[in-house]
Amino acid sequence: MADTLLLIEDETLLGTELACHFREQSWEVVLAATLDSGRRLLAEWEPLVVLSDMNLPDGNALDFLESLGKQRFRGEWIFLTGYGSIPDSVRALRLGAFDFLEKPCDPERLDLVVAGAARSARAQRRLTDQSASETRRYTPASFIGRSPAAAQVRSLLQKLIRVPFSALTLGGETGTGKGLVARILHHAGLRAGGPLVEINCAALPRELLESELFGHEAGAFTGAKGRRRGLMEQAHGGTLFLDEISEINLDLQAKLLKAIEDKIIRRLGGDREIQVDVQIIAATNRDLETGVREGMFRGDLYHRLNVFRLELPPLRVRLDDLDDLLPLLVAEYNSKAGKRVKVLPAEVWTRLRCHSWPGNVRELRNLVERCVLFAESEVFPVEWLQLGTAAPAVAAPAVAGERLEIPLDGSMSLDEIDRYVIQTVLERHQYNVTATARLLGTTRETLRYRIDKYGLKPEAGRGRE
Ligand SMILES: Nc1ncnc2c1ncn2[C@@H]1O[C@H](COP(=O)(O)OP(=O)(O)OP(=O)(O)O)[C@@H](O)[C@H]1O
Ligand SMILES: [Mg+2]
Repeated sequence: MADTLLLIEDETLLGTELACHFREQSWEVVLAATLDSGRRLLAEWEPLVVLSDMNLPDGNALDFLESLGKQRFRGEWIFLTGYGSIPDSVRALRLGAFDFLEKPCDPERLDLVVAGAARSARAQRRLTDQSASETRRYTPASFIGRSPAAAQVRSLLQKLIRVPFSALTLGGETGTGKGLVARILHHAGLRAGGPLVEINCAALPRELLESELFGHEAGAFTGAKGRRRGLMEQAHGGTLFLDEISEINLDLQAKLLKAIEDKIIRRLGGDREIQVDVQIIAATNRDLETGVREGMFRGDLYHRLNVFRLELPPLRVRLDDLDDLLPLLVAEYNSKAGKRVKVLPAEVWTRLRCHSWPGNVRELRNLVERCVLFAESEVFPVEWLQLGTAAPAVAAPAVAGERLEIPLDGSMSLDEIDRYVIQTVLERHQYNVTATARLLGTTRETLRYRIDKYGLKPEAGRGRE
């Protein structure tokens, strides 16, 4: 499709000449001799570039551009004028015009400027189209799962996307969907029209993180070439997603808190105050409260970010979600890898349900990718599940509060399970046989017999660790 250009020019000769010039370069050109006809055209057509004279018979093009408003026009505007004056050009640029050229303009320069405007307009359109498609892609319903726990997350998301929150913390183990939820909150929320800027605080050395977040002026530190807008500034009007927030050091935490409270930042090496309006989503798979207790995380920042808190449940407590996630992921990798896996054998379901999923949905995603990739028929290949070998930690039993988790994937025999249960309870009761027997509903004699059988002595330590 040809690039489109609207020419607004009342001098007929110049107008026709310019139109011919750009048509020769394969532009689709429409010529308007008045602002009024320009307005009518713009109402139903969206040219990539507008090249416009300043003074038209029915008014001034600067006022016209101002009346259009920048949002309604997704292209670039260039002024070409014989009566150019500095105040006009300043106002033009302030109104968002791409450039301001004086007549007569050298054709080569004109071509260069128009080509630059076209490039910029195309890039802007790509961005808005992309963000429109992300808005469709990320809704609360994108958080998949039929379990009550997943439904609860969706219902909280439904509420949160309607309120203008300033900060929110996302907790949850690795792979539980914190990144996904941050995208849903932004793209389905009130700030969807603004940018979503993400940064992983653990991925950058601490010194760099500060200049990434706040930006710097030229020469602020050795190696600071030129001026750089920080991520806080880039997120203005939108959302800043701070992943792994627990990794920020205490100094930077203080600076971040101040920026959130005052809505003002200063670039490194600069003293100008810059207004920023950002919504902060902070994610962590660590316990921030412990961080606060141990003096690694500022209490005031913690409370500021914790205005809302959303805790994502691990996959092992919502295994029913496998019923929705597995087919969906299989379909996704089928289409990526050009495969046709559609039979999911009962054994696959059983093995997946017995697994403890320390890597949560990300682990499931990786597993499905591997299995679909290696599938040789329409059947999901059980042999590629590799649940025992790929992640040995997975098959380990674990104590979770008042509960025990025992893997049912065949990695523990009945005797091993028996031994593990007894040993754990014994440890909890400082090897008091009477208390342990009572809790397990058995006699002291039976318990002693098994303690001997399994060699469970206080100093023996855990058999399976
Ligand atoms: N409920 C869900 N429905 C659909 N996809 C999900 C769900 N939860 C997680 N995912 C997918 O699982 C993958 C891992 O999720 P994500 O990256 O959001 O995890 P995370 O909590 O940010 O992990 P980490 O702490 O390691 O950064 C992503 O591809 C994400 O889209
Ligand atoms: Mg993440």
